[in-house]
Amino acid sequence: MKERKKVALITGASQGLGACMAKRIAELGYLVIVNYAHSPERAGQVVEQIHSAGNRAVAMKCDISDEAAVKALFAELEEKFGGVDVLVNNARVDPLSRRPEETDGMWWDRVMAVGLRGAYLCSNEFTRYADRHRNGRIVNVSSCRAHRPNELESIAYSTSKLALHCLTRSYAAALARYGITVNTLAPGMIATENMFKRIGRRGYETECGNIALHRAGTCDEIADGLIWAVENGFMTGETININGGQTYAP
Ligand SMILES: NC(=O)c1ccc[n+]([C@@H]2O[C@H](COP(=O)([O-])OP(=O)(O)OC[C@H]3O[C@@H](n4cnc5c(N)ncnc54)[C@H](OP(=O)(O)O)[C@@H]3O)[C@@H](O)[C@H]2O)c1
Repeated sequence: MKERKKVALITGASQGLGACMAKRIAELGYLVIVNYAHSPERAGQVVEQIHSAGNRAVAMKCDISDEAAVKALFAELEEKFGGVDVLVNNARVDPLSRRPEETDGMWWDRVMAVGLRGAYLCSNEFTRYADRHRNGRIVNVSSCRAHRPNELESIAYSTSKLALHCLTRSYAAALARYGITVNTLAPGMIATENMFKRIGRRGYETECGNIALHRAGTCDEIADGLIWAVENGFMTGETININGGQTYAP
């Protein structure tokens, strides 16, 4: 019988770190599900890049804050590909997308809905099929901002990130009996294609002042942590910090 190809679902993989992690995990031989909510063209480009490297990927739309949509996504993945082996909870609300009419309460709800509720909903659907996917992996993408005081406009974001660490430990304990590991990847500032749009040159220099290595990390340097978490079967409930020394720098 033909062996089933292992499947990795990366939420929010149409750009930035998610796109990079999708490409890297495809190199390990996984069929990668490039999830997106609003950007089909960008997700399509990521899939094309993965195909041109000789690997396999499919773009799939799903607003991960929508419970029914998440259930439908996992059911489709089960039916078409035999389920999900690696779940990377990476999607977040782009800080650039905040609209002027969006109140603090509305912003809080949207940040939490995607960054936290989305990770919870996806992890629960993954768990539903856990006994059939031994040696699976969940990786929650947090941030070094979870552990330090933040500017007022980033408080919802950093709070959602800190809560992800709680999710990691709870799912790690619950899923250990299936051989499934659950870990957190906590990057510092990442040199994505949108970094300067978000913080500008001056913001970049200021942020570098808080980083011992005085620069942003590349997407690949962060994705190295994902590969480690996927390939290692004895680490669970842990945090992989990759931040150039941001948490301890003055
Ligand atoms: N960038 C940094 O410096 C940095 C630092 C530390 C940690 N991180 C963390 O690293 C991860 C990736 O960051 P990034 O900067 O690469 O992200 P990003 O550029 O803001 O991209 C976010 C992704 O999430 C998707 N998304 C948004 N809403 C969604 C929804 N409702 N359902 C499904 N997908 C949705 C977007 O796709 P659509 O356009 O299709 O919606 C996009 O692909 C995030 O968890 C972030 O918090 C980033």
